[in-house]
Amino acid sequence: MNAHDSERIKGMLEELGLGEAAVIEDADVLVFNTCTIREKAESRLSAHLGWAKALKEQDSERVIAVGGCVAEVQRRQLFEHYPFVDVAFGPGSIAHLGKWLGAGGHGVESGAFGTGMERVFASDLPMRRERPFQAWVQISMGCNSRCSYCIVPTVRGRQVSRGSGDVLDEVRRLAADGVREITLLGQNVNSYGRDLPAAERVDFSDLLRACDAVDGIERIRFTSPHPKDFRPDVIAAMAECTSVCEHAHLPVQSGSTRLLKAMRRSYDRERFLRLVEEMRQAIPDLALTTDLIVGFPGETDADFGQTLSLVEEVAFDGAFTFVYSPRYDTEAVAMADQIPDDLKRERISTLIELVQRIANERNERRIGAIEEVLIEGPSRTDPLLLCGRTRRNTTVNFAGNACPGDLVDVRIKGATSTTLNGEQLTSPVP
Ligand code: 5AD
Ligand code: SF4
Repeated sequence: MNAHDSERIKGMLEELGLGEAAVIEDADVLVFNTCTIREKAESRLSAHLGWAKALKEQDSERVIAVGGCVAEVQRRQLFEHYPFVDVAFGPGSIAHLGKWLGAGGHGVESGAFGTGMERVFASDLPMRRERPFQAWVQISMGCNSRCSYCIVPTVRGRQVSRGSGDVLDEVRRLAADGVREITLLGQNVNSYGRDLPAAERVDFSDLLRACDAVDGIERIRFTSPHPKDFRPDVIAAMAECTSVCEHAHLPVQSGSTRLLKAMRRSYDRERFLRLVEEMRQAIPDLALTTDLIVGFPGETDADFGQTLSLVEEVAFDGAFTFVYSPRYDTEAVAMADQIPDDLKRERISTLIELVQRIANERNERRIGAIEEVLIEGPSRTDPLLLCGRTRRNTTVNFAGNACPGDLVDVRIKGATSTTLNGEQLTSPVP
């Protein structure tokens, strides 16, 4: 979501006539888009702002803006801690940034803060996409869940779904502009629509079907769904819609029913396993990735063992693993039995090792197969190779001859835990 917000910020600054500086020292306006989901993301901001302060001391005309969730959570304190910051804005207030900055950075109202009360979708703002053939499409903002570890509902507010007409207009515009792959974006995508007025109510499975019907969109992804809301109609829509990719990022967080309850995830281990079973039956060849947290307060060796065994049992294709990070104003921060750092570190390295072993095994099974790859550009490790993603969202480095944005068939010849490699078979699909 933050990456998408940054594309909007960038697009809006360009509309104001501001171009991207080659190096930070050359910038007249510095905008920081911040994340507060874990402490580490937040502590990085103070280092960046120290640097910005030094630059402002060299040139007091420089404008410094801080946006995103840290700004939202710190509000006025931000100006106390960092008095050289000119403008701060929460994630719902991106649309106002242009007004505050004024053309070319003039007319800045020092100490201005965009309030969370006037949250608006940034979707009407210009967007600067990283690649011309891929786009994020925001379908909702905020979240109505109350996971006990999570700060998101505090900083992004309750869920507001965007009208389906608006979403589809954007998807059609993107398709006309050459976009082939969209990723529907929301804090909890499959609870989309439940807050819309009855007359306008469209649920996530309807939205998937409507996006699938848009000509030119070859691949549809979405992130993130909540396992509690992954209903049979969504599974059916995934199975039926040819553009919807065979991949789901399904954050499970823990394999222990006891901890899932303490986390307020509203499902237990067995229900999650049943869901995986149903999805795999309906969608052959489905890739599943997940998010996992270790070191949640009160996590015993047995709870952690349950997470390891769930990872083995499901055999995820990949996972983001996180050490639990206490966040202000969450239920879990006040819980007894916070886990010591060294134990958290020990558990996360055990978990990462297991996740990688299984991902490696899953990828090795692809050797010999032919995968459709959307080319993103040259490979980062070897510029003579191309790099792209399969429908199952695995990165492939391969020898071939085609352009970014082309769909090509690649024969898979090798695998690591995070990538595949191979050789292009055909000329690009027109
Ligand atoms: N500590 C660690 N990980 C967290 N996440 C959310 N909040 C926390 C926290 N306080 C993780 C969850 C979520 C992902 C986006 O970030 O796994 O799915
Ligand atoms: Fe946070 Fe839970 Fe909402 Fe995800 S579903 S954003 S983890 S509160």
